[in-house]
Amino acid sequence: MCGIVGYTGRRQALDVLLKGLYTLEYRGYDSAGVAVQTPQGLRVVKTQGRMKTLDEKVHALGGLEGSCGIGHTRWATHGAPSDVNAHPHVSADGRFALVHNGIIENYLELREELQRDGFVFQSETDTETVVHLFQKLYCGDMVKTLTQVVARLRGGFALGVISSEKPGELVCVRRDNPLIVGFGEGENMIASDIPAILPVTRRYVVPGDEEIVHVTPQGVEFYSLSGERLTHTPQTVDWDVSSAEKGGYDHFMLKEIFEQPRAVRDTVSSRIRGGLPALEEYGLSDEMLRGVRNIHIVACGSALHAGLVGKAAIEKLARIPVLAQVASEFRYSDPIIGEGDLCIVISQSGETADTLAALREAKKRGARTLAICNVVSSSAAREADSVLYTWAGPEIAVATTKAYSAQLAALYLIAVRAALARGTMDEQTARRYCDDISSLPDKIETLLKTREQMSELARLYSDREDTFFLGRGVDYAAAQEASLKLKEISYVHSEAYAGGELKHGTISLIEEGTLVAALACDPALYEKIISNIKSVKARGASVVLVTNGNYEADGEMCDHVVHLPQCLPELSASLSIIPLQLFAYYIGVYRGCDIDKPRNLAKSVTVE
Ligand code: G6P
Repeated sequence: MCGIVGYTGRRQALDVLLKGLYTLEYRGYDSAGVAVQTPQGLRVVKTQGRMKTLDEKVHALGGLEGSCGIGHTRWATHGAPSDVNAHPHVSADGRFALVHNGIIENYLELREELQRDGFVFQSETDTETVVHLFQKLYCGDMVKTLTQVVARLRGGFALGVISSEKPGELVCVRRDNPLIVGFGEGENMIASDIPAILPVTRRYVVPGDEEIVHVTPQGVEFYSLSGERLTHTPQTVDWDVSSAEKGGYDHFMLKEIFEQPRAVRDTVSSRIRGGLPALEEYGLSDEMLRGVRNIHIVACGSALHAGLVGKAAIEKLARIPVLAQVASEFRYSDPIIGEGDLCIVISQSGETADTLAALREAKKRGARTLAICNVVSSSAAREADSVLYTWAGPEIAVATTKAYSAQLAALYLIAVRAALARGTMDEQTARRYCDDISSLPDKIETLLKTREQMSELARLYSDREDTFFLGRGVDYAAAQEASLKLKEISYVHSEAYAGGELKHGTISLIEEGTLVAALACDPALYEKIISNIKSVKARGASVVLVTNGNYEADGEMCDHVVHLPQCLPELSASLSIIPLQLFAYYIGVYRGCDIDKPRNLAKSVTVE
């Protein structure tokens, strides 16, 4: 949700800012802008549209000379995407430029106050209030001024500010929003995410909430709101810049689909010891798992879909009641959760605003909290009682694939360990589950070979405007993720339905040529789902069956079959999703969609 970047040092700031912004574009891409301290004062170039448009615009103007600046790529919340609403925003007197990620909840009252003071607003954004407020409160010291500003703001945000009067100085702050500070040699940076700093440095610090950070080429200082100097030891990024590049693939999404065997292997391998899940160091001791009353899984989007698969596995294997809930609903539902309960939040980014709020709510009510997330040191990782990282590596495409697969693997390990701890599974069976979990990467590898088949199916069906995904049990959970993938990147209307529920209304939408993708991966439910499939086929649907069963396309039950390798039924969502991710990808390609940056979406949703 908006990417911010800032640089001060010995290079031309513009180059570093643009490079950084390209890597942050996944966070929002409806407009972009930069501000640089030039010999002629602060200069700002901003535009509606993608980074490429900004790049062309700023170079058409002859570039911007200077070694300190800030940049922004936007996902609009307050005010439509437009040149004037794009960041950086500049104070009325032109002395300050500011970039912002998040929402200033009290911006209307601040705006009225500033208007009464005579400030004239150019944009409809909440951000512009902050830069005028900065001018109003300016005391000659950037750190002290930002401290005063923060005290007046409600909501969550990350802010970066430069001034024409303070060459080489950059100040920033975060509250419940991501922001890192990169430590270079004679140059330093700020950014919303790690890939943006990698051309300059691998060393970074995540400042604490409401710490005011003062950045110059010579060093970085951290202050509490009460003015106390704080220290942090930088961490080192241990993955390579190439992990955040396309590496020969047409899109990040395709690259990330193909990285799934590694993502799952890395997530699982160090957590299976002696053939059994070893999760004690993640706060999941047998004693704790034995005593757990209820598990609440809280997440958004695909992470919630992973949670639904996790719910099915944990309930079936460990017999613990699990509620899987949408984070934005959970947080305002006066949830029945407390001591003795475990709240598992799942989030690729670890920064999703609703998921974080749900985590805090669960903590406040006395539940134990576990975060399953992919971004190291993200807010969820820091705030939860314990964290189980998915080692999927940086995920750039907005539509998640490898992080989702890694989340599933992490949840299976929890299900098996909990089952062992509670005595609902014996050790021998647990070993069999672990073997099967460990073999998922090879099976996923095999399934990546369905690429051509899925591309061909996508070519045949790319003109369909409605698609239904059917499944029962775990297949229904997987169907929900498959459906979301398709609508996210191809804009095709799709719905996931529990096979048995279809006849209660939705079947009225099935007509000649409606596309139905049906999942049949649990032998215990084959016959049931096959009857559901037959009933849509009889009404003219074109049916693609994804199954580990021994079925063939006969034109009567289904038109196409995608065969999956065998695995234990609770784990099958890890396999059935692979061809369906490829299917969604190719439908998007055939329809000419912007695969990695679908319209209206952003990868990290840091607003409610
Ligand atoms: C956004 C993305 C989804 C993602 C969801 C949750 O809506 O477009 O793909 O599943 O956020 O993100 P998280 O980082 O919490 O997993």
